[in-house]
Amino acid sequence: MNVISKASHRDRMRVLSGKKGPDPRLIIIFTVLTLVLTAAVIMLWEKVLRPPYYAWVDENYPGVENIEQRDRLEQRGEHFFISVTVDVIVVSILLAIVGRKQQRLVEAHERLAHNEKIATLGQVAAQVAHEVRNPLSGLLLYSEHLKTKVAGKLPESEAQLIDKIIATINHLTSTTEQILNFARPVTLAPRRLDLNRVVPDVIQLLSAEINNHQIDTKLELHESPVTGMLDEPSIRAASLNLMLNAVQAMPRGGRLTVSTGATNGKLWLLISDTGAGMSPEQIKQLFVPFNTTKSRGLGLGMPYAQKIIEQHGGRILVESQQGEGTQVKIELPASEGVNP
Ligand SMILES: Nc1ncnc2c1ncn2[C@@H]1O[C@H](COP(=O)(O)OP(=O)(O)O)[C@@H](O)[C@H]1O
Ligand SMILES: [Mg+2]
Repeated sequence: MNVISKASHRDRMRVLSGKKGPDPRLIIIFTVLTLVLTAAVIMLWEKVLRPPYYAWVDENYPGVENIEQRDRLEQRGEHFFISVTVDVIVVSILLAIVGRKQQRLVEAHERLAHNEKIATLGQVAAQVAHEVRNPLSGLLLYSEHLKTKVAGKLPESEAQLIDKIIATINHLTSTTEQILNFARPVTLAPRRLDLNRVVPDVIQLLSAEINNHQIDTKLELHESPVTGMLDEPSIRAASLNLMLNAVQAMPRGGRLTVSTGATNGKLWLLISDTGAGMSPEQIKQLFVPFNTTKSRGLGLGMPYAQKIIEQHGGRILVESQQGEGTQVKIELPASEGVNP
């Protein structure tokens, strides 16, 4: 069941973490331009250049005795015209190819500069997170010690302040851990893994959030195992991030549907929600690190999932419509295909 194409809609925005093919519109525009150019050269020869040239030949080589000479000169004129036409077409094709290549080069350069900026940002963030991690665990230790020391000696409202300090430290620790996890290179240890086994475990991990927001969960797991050579911890982490996003997109309830399957040598996991959806602008920024619309978000869930899935030789497809919901599909190779 190809839910992505089934759900296609005129207004839907779709994004795919992969490569683009050649643009057919450019090929059409270029063919039309070539035809127009050829017609212009023919008209120029027929209407403007040929009459005076033939008149010049007749004038300079008159009479029956010059018939052969006239024919030769007229033939040369025709050959010259055909060569010019072919030259114009070849040069315009070359110019178009060079122009396109140059445009690609500029785009690649911009992408590289953007990726370098993101990589630097990630490195700086990871450095800061690393520096902050040890002092944070010290602070947590002191705060817990303080809590036991003052237990029963402080009024309830003041004792709660210490709990708030501890909760804030825990939040900061989890943030630094997420940054460090994202920045660290992932080393895959692929083993046979059934996606049907991963889904219920991840749903279980999210059960508190799912119940708090009155979200209906529906599992449509393939009847036979959906097995591939996958790195279990990273696939679990990527699925958790995507399902968490789906749950967080439905703060006032909704339906979370998770399906699995295997088609054409590929395993897939589809996460659909009936939440807020995304605007076309949001979708464009979806895989950019540190891009978030949540007040306590970090913006690393999607790029982290993308990194994991692409490292497995797979891809992530996203379809979303604002106000209606989002479908995120992970595609993975059924076996092999694990990039080192
Ligand atoms: N299922 C979804 N529905 C709506 N918006 C989503 C969904 N998944 C991701 N997003 C958008 O993409 C952004 C980036 O997601 P992510 O990288 O996981 O970071 P975070 O969850 O910390 O914000 C989110 O802030 C949200 O705006
Ligand atoms: Mg997230």
